Amino acid sequence: MTEIIHNVTDEWAKRAFIDQKTYQEWYAQSVNDPDAFWGEHGKRLDWFTPYTKVKNTSFEPGNVSIRWFEDGTLNVAHNCIDRHLPHRANQTAIIWEGDDPSESRHITYQELHDRVAELANVLRNRGVEKGDRVTIYLPMIPEAAFAMLACARLGAVHSLVFAGFSPDSLASRIEDCGSKFVITANEGLRGGRKVPLKANVDAALKRVSGVEHVVVVRRTDTDVPMEPGRDVWYHEAIEQVTSECPPVEVNAEDPLFILYTSGSTGKPKGVLHTTGGYLVYAAITHQYVFDYHEGDVYWCTADVGWVTGHSYIVYGPLANGATTLIFEGVPTYPDISRFWQVVDKHNVNIFYTAPTAIRSLMQAGDEPVKKTSRASLRLLGSVGEPINPEAWEWYYRVVGDSRCPVVDTWWQTETGGILIAPLPGATALKPGSATLPFFGVKPGIVDNEGRPQEGAAEGNLVITDSWPGQMRSVYGDHKRFEETYFATYPGCYFTGDGARRDADGYYWITGRVDDVINVSGHRMGTAEVESALVAHAKVSEAAVVGYPHDIKGQGIYAYVTLMEGEEPSDELRKELVAWVRREIGPIASPDLIQFAPGLPKTRSGKIMRRILRKIAEDEFGNLGDTSTLADPTVVDDLVNNRQNRH
Ligand code: PRX
Repeated sequence: MTEIIHNVTDEWAKRAFIDQKTYQEWYAQSVNDPDAFWGEHGKRLDWFTPYTKVKNTSFEPGNVSIRWFEDGTLNVAHNCIDRHLPHRANQTAIIWEGDDPSESRHITYQELHDRVAELANVLRNRGVEKGDRVTIYLPMIPEAAFAMLACARLGAVHSLVFAGFSPDSLASRIEDCGSKFVITANEGLRGGRKVPLKANVDAALKRVSGVEHVVVVRRTDTDVPMEPGRDVWYHEAIEQVTSECPPVEVNAEDPLFILYTSGSTGKPKGVLHTTGGYLVYAAITHQYVFDYHEGDVYWCTADVGWVTGHSYIVYGPLANGATTLIFEGVPTYPDISRFWQVVDKHNVNIFYTAPTAIRSLMQAGDEPVKKTSRASLRLLGSVGEPINPEAWEWYYRVVGDSRCPVVDTWWQTETGGILIAPLPGATALKPGSATLPFFGVKPGIVDNEGRPQEGAAEGNLVITDSWPGQMRSVYGDHKRFEETYFATYPGCYFTGDGARRDADGYYWITGRVDDVINVSGHRMGTAEVESALVAHAKVSEAAVVGYPHDIKGQGIYAYVTLMEGEEPSDELRKELVAWVRREIGPIASPDLIQFAPGLPKTRSGKIMRRILRKIAEDEFGNLGDTSTLADPTVVDDLVNNRQNRH
């Protein structure tokens, strides 16, 4: 196959901050002398006490420790708001576009300051102090950003829980971080449908104790029960306070937020990010990868409940004084042109979305895109999962009218910001490749024994040295942090992804190599779905794997063994799907369930997932060695019955 390359055009080069020569020079300095490089670029923030130390990090097994700018002090809300006020008080900080196209708001930096300070006062009056954890369970409304920044202003640690998660998932996240405060809304609104957020919080708080205060934003007209002494309406509480609230000075290594994410095993982990390094990294990547210039209108379609929303809706853009768009709705409501209508309505220049959205819009053809202008667009971004070259080309040609560079950005909740991506004025684009590392990032490819591979190679993707946005720990469990990320290939951070590096040094991410599946860009641990399934009274065993899905990238395939005496039926299938949605949330819904009388296990009882994956992918000609199975006939049954999956 001949490789397609889109070279940097004169137009992109003219506008861009970083050309190829600068990329090479800065990259070399950033990896050869990280202290000098980050010492200089750390100055993009306002520090109350400037740092004198820059990098102090170790990936050494048993002694993993990551500290950046460790003697500096600062405040994130001050950096994202207050320091801009002298010259940007009247500039729009947030454009909010409602689910209903007739609803939108422009919030200036001054208004952002006032709303954040008020909410910070509301929290402070209820006892929130530096270091306290605050759980935020909000839809895509400006108050979500206010809440994050209000926590940051007080030095409190926020934990956002995606508003699509179930009461159970919410309860376990509240419990894990011992949060005494919750901020939510009466309801959310997406695609014309209401989401019962406050009811979910009430249900969660029946399962977990310790929450003392719940602040409730009134998003819809629906009334919800309020528990006296615990629950307070946001709009009433802010009436009682002023819009003055001095930002609390925190250390660069004080925690900023916890964000739960799925891994291979066990419950979701609380990924812990700290203040200084995270913000430097979110801001610098936002500026150079998106080539963000003063005055640009920037739109990232992610949800604030995921890391992309943290770094590239809120913190990166606001640290840079940008105008960031928050969209409440979905790409298909009221119709399938919605994204492009919003682009035209607000003159969006930079647009950042996920491959799953691109693929589903692509299925509807070019016409819904072409009937909009999109003349304001200058750059397109992609994140969350591998983008197939066809979708990349469609995005480039149809959405961007072959005029806008497409930046495919590879990163993770753990990395805090983008690690591998093109810079539009420096990097020739290859559809399907996230291309080259950002400044300060040292990727490597190792084989299964951990041996580093040179030149063109395929294997496991590791990062061999620290960067400022790196997670610092798993909340409350540093040992789990070390074991999850630093034990597999000692001395390296292991990403959990596979990758290929081509002869030009470009990286092509091939997907997860662990038991994590990526469904529409959402990370899901197979173990989580399995434990939800076996919690059902009729299920005796379950094994979950990913399989290729045209729109979602990967779908969830569940093999389910029923309890003695239970019969497979379509009704039961539906019941199990509904059960998983209720236990975890709609994003965990199995796409296919195959009832299996037995699962392939080794003699020691370990489920052979490799075989289940192959059957799910319809690759049963290539099942590999099945002789170590306790009962090899199980496999024949699975293959023969695969028509019965739905
Ligand atoms: O497998 C990679 C995939 O998403 C994983 C990280 O998921 P999460 O922590 O939820 O963060 C998603 C948004 C940053 C990675 O391990 N992934 C993310 N971006 C890409 C990607 N795979 C291929 N190409 C990408 N651009």
